[in-house]
Amino acid sequence: MKAIEIRNKYLEFFKKHGHVVIPSAPLIPENDPSVLFNTAGMQPLVPYLLGQKHPEGTRLTDYQKCVRTNDIDEVGDNRHLTYFEMLGNWSLGDYFKEESIAMSFEFLTKELGIPVEKIFVTVFAGDEDCMRDELAAECWKKAGILDGHIYYYGKDDNWWIAGEEGPCGPDTEMYYDTGKEPCGPHCEPHCDCGKYVEIWNNVFMEYFKTKEGKYTKLQQRNVDTGLGLERMTMLLQGKETPFDTEIFKPIMDKLEKLQQIDSIESRRIIAEHLRSSMMIISDGGRPSNVDRGYVLRKLIRRMIRHMNKLQIDLNKVEELVELNINTLKEMYPELEKNKNIIKQTIMEEKDKFVKTLNNGEKEFTKAMNKTKQEGKDKIEGAVVFKLYDTFGFPPEITKDLAEENNMKIDMQEFEVLFKKHQEKSRQGSSAKFKGGLAEQNEMTIKYHTATHLLNAALKIVLGKDTHQRGSNITTERMRFDFNCNHKLTDEEKQQIEELVNKWIKDELDVTVQTMKKDDAIKSGAECMFIEKYPEDVTVYTIGTVSKELCGGPHVKNTRELGTFKIKKEESSSAGVRRIKAVLI
Ligand code: ALA
Repeated sequence: MKAIEIRNKYLEFFKKHGHVVIPSAPLIPENDPSVLFNTAGMQPLVPYLLGQKHPEGTRLTDYQKCVRTNDIDEVGDNRHLTYFEMLGNWSLGDYFKEESIAMSFEFLTKELGIPVEKIFVTVFAGDEDCMRDELAAECWKKAGILDGHIYYYGKDDNWWIAGEEGPCGPDTEMYYDTGKEPCGPHCEPHCDCGKYVEIWNNVFMEYFKTKEGKYTKLQQRNVDTGLGLERMTMLLQGKETPFDTEIFKPIMDKLEKLQQIDSIESRRIIAEHLRSSMMIISDGGRPSNVDRGYVLRKLIRRMIRHMNKLQIDLNKVEELVELNINTLKEMYPELEKNKNIIKQTIMEEKDKFVKTLNNGEKEFTKAMNKTKQEGKDKIEGAVVFKLYDTFGFPPEITKDLAEENNMKIDMQEFEVLFKKHQEKSRQGSSAKFKGGLAEQNEMTIKYHTATHLLNAALKIVLGKDTHQRGSNITTERMRFDFNCNHKLTDEEKQQIEELVNKWIKDELDVTVQTMKKDDAIKSGAECMFIEKYPEDVTVYTIGTVSKELCGGPHVKNTRELGTFKIKKEESSSAGVRRIKAVLI
């Protein structure tokens, strides 16, 4: 089934079930300066989820154009996309769990013909804010989900909110079992290994989370769902990646013909970023140095840089735009209408970037030689920032150039400067690191100690300049952010796990002492935000492996921790990676 057929089937199906088909809102939110792009179908519907009457009634369905850029550095692998289409259906105070689940089940099994054996679902496990979702589980059983195909997870997996504040609620997610071998005994739907692919998310939106982190009840119970079209297309066609479907195939083939140097990652980046840029421009976006304009600039420049890498004549970009419009116009007629502006914008940006590349490369070479003369191999963050600010060089390009010359860049310093710059231009980055312990109990205390071990292991495996950038702990898992410029390899993850588990087995004592802040730093204690600490600080030491300024509390001995297991490794923001791990 082609993507457009899936879309049409979806809209028809929900129409048949009393929904009104509404048009996709533009990618660029109309009345919401707080987000750069629409990232989910529910975003343009927030006022109605909060209780305002929608002119089309209480049952709606649509396809929504979305851009999510937190994973931009992952594009090039076999699944990440910056632009995607989300199919959705909404109940605005109308039907709730039972009907929503029954319709999803019917659509997947009857309309799309997915065998029930291939479908797994997850529901909310419950916590102090909201009950365990036994009702959703019951509805799934009643609909026909097989025994053993229902899993319960906590807020991290089965709670949905856009950002930090707003309408939210427990969700139930549907997964497609690709039939691949499980990655191990703990391979479950929320595992990252690729056996299970999430296909649809139904959010039972009856709460509102306030800025202060409190949950209140909304005046109505809503359902908000989201189904990723490219993924579904890939699965139904039995393809390994979205790049093998008709959405990307023509451009991928063309790139293969044009390239002088072979790289599938670069071809995917070009194909993906081209589609994304075209969609943004078509909806009114233009390249600039701030906000969404910068995202667009970054997409186009990355694409050009990768064309350069494959030694494709950069003027061919015009032909690529033409070809992509032909491929996509059935799905997005607006591309044909906006053809001229799309071409013009991309060509102009390409020309600017060619100049930038030349000037920036000269500047980069100067800075690199100076760094080398000083006997160093790391280019200062201030240089990276200047290249960005003055020459429009995205930091990842500076990083690429540095790597080509066996050099590193100080991404941490760059980020500090970049953040200051962002604050100045009042874009208030939302990437605040939530830290500390929300609640303290036996489990969170264990996780807290585990974060210290993980921090120490990362320094050994990734290098001593790896530092904590944030952490968040619940009774179910720990989340840990740290500076790192690459996706961790399986070997690195394994080494990290092994080190932490070795220290747990070694039964190391955890001791605490009070020291003067300066003495603590001199003694080599690790610390995230030095200025946040008072003059007298507590320092926790774990055997000889870790020493950190920290308020505690911690376990007495590492043997209390059990077994440490990494569940997910992903990008958190530019230059910052995130590990989610559990103790089992
Ligand atoms: N809003 C939900 C999501 O984006 C459906 O997953």
